[in-house]
Amino acid sequence: MYNLNDETKKWVDEIWEKLDTKLSRTAVSSYDKIPYTTIDGVHDNAAEIIYRWTNGFWPGLMWLMYVGTKNEVYKKTAEHAEEMLDAALAMPDKLSHDVGFMWHISSGINHRLFGGEKSKARTTLAATHLASRFNIRGNYIRVWNGDRVGQVIIDCMMNLPLLYRESELIGDKRFYYIAEAHADKTIQTHIRPDGSVRHIVDLDPATGEIKEVLGGQGYSADSAWSRGQAWAVYGYVLSYIHTGKQEYLDVAKRVANYFIANVCDTGYIPRVDFKSPCTEPDTTAGAAAACGLLEISKCVPDDEKPMYFNAAIRMLKALEEKYCDWSDTEDSILQYGVERYFPDERRKGLPIIYGDYYFAEAIYKLKGFDMLFW
Ligand code: GLY
Repeated sequence: MYNLNDETKKWVDEIWEKLDTKLSRTAVSSYDKIPYTTIDGVHDNAAEIIYRWTNGFWPGLMWLMYVGTKNEVYKKTAEHAEEMLDAALAMPDKLSHDVGFMWHISSGINHRLFGGEKSKARTTLAATHLASRFNIRGNYIRVWNGDRVGQVIIDCMMNLPLLYRESELIGDKRFYYIAEAHADKTIQTHIRPDGSVRHIVDLDPATGEIKEVLGGQGYSADSAWSRGQAWAVYGYVLSYIHTGKQEYLDVAKRVANYFIANVCDTGYIPRVDFKSPCTEPDTTAGAAAACGLLEISKCVPDDEKPMYFNAAIRMLKALEEKYCDWSDTEDSILQYGVERYFPDERRKGLPIIYGDYYFAEAIYKLKGFDMLFW
């Protein structure tokens, strides 16, 4: 439970009400879709490409709201999306390491809440797929398919909770050990001494040695793509929560400190890349990082808590004030997410489902709902 002052508590209550008003409407109007973004204010339907890595966020968002409200509308929509995702489970060659984003917060939450056998099987299949991507010589989980055998991306840290929880469920730590080996490896390959983070690193599959650092969704191979920083902040504190390994919390703090230092002169809104000439924001990075900062604030000693907690609150308030759309003519909430460093001007600054998901998850945490979704 977080210790909120009166003003922040009032703000959190108001935002939660607004989330519920908008999402209880879209849970019905978008029941047959899995939204990714909106077109002219209306949710699109990413279920048309069912194996997209982002397709777990909509059911995850519905489960957050169900846990917080017990409104059956959310449960129905979450379960329907989970069923739609079965078509993706049947296409293993189309799936990547992102099965955590897809099933951990969809079938995984359903199973934790209601214990259904089908949800359990889906989650186990997803965890098994993720574990099967582990390279035992290189000690890493490969990201994509085809000839990119040695590529590892920082985003994978967010998929590891699927493995930790699967091990808990089956009473066998073999999945946990894979997650731990990958988290250990990524500290060596992706985390720089200054707390900034690489996006893609190509490893030698026979030895795990670094072959090349590649540019990814950020500005360059040497830059600091802000959503990648957010994945590291949240991913490493989650690995700490699941394992108790102090090194993971220390890494989460190092990357968080870098993140905070880079938002305090931009009104607590992250730029799309902290080491780039671009000053455009990426709101999704702020929402995901805020979730990680809130968790860090619970794990550190009392004298360290305010820095992480206050940074999260400042970021969430800034995102809400500048970028949240609460109108009923727009289905999405958080505007101005950025998929990647502007290869295409038309895709610059759009609402993206994971922005809505992490923003809602942060508010859910601040409301005091303590079921950790990851
Ligand atoms: N590669 C996943 C992301 O856009 O964050």
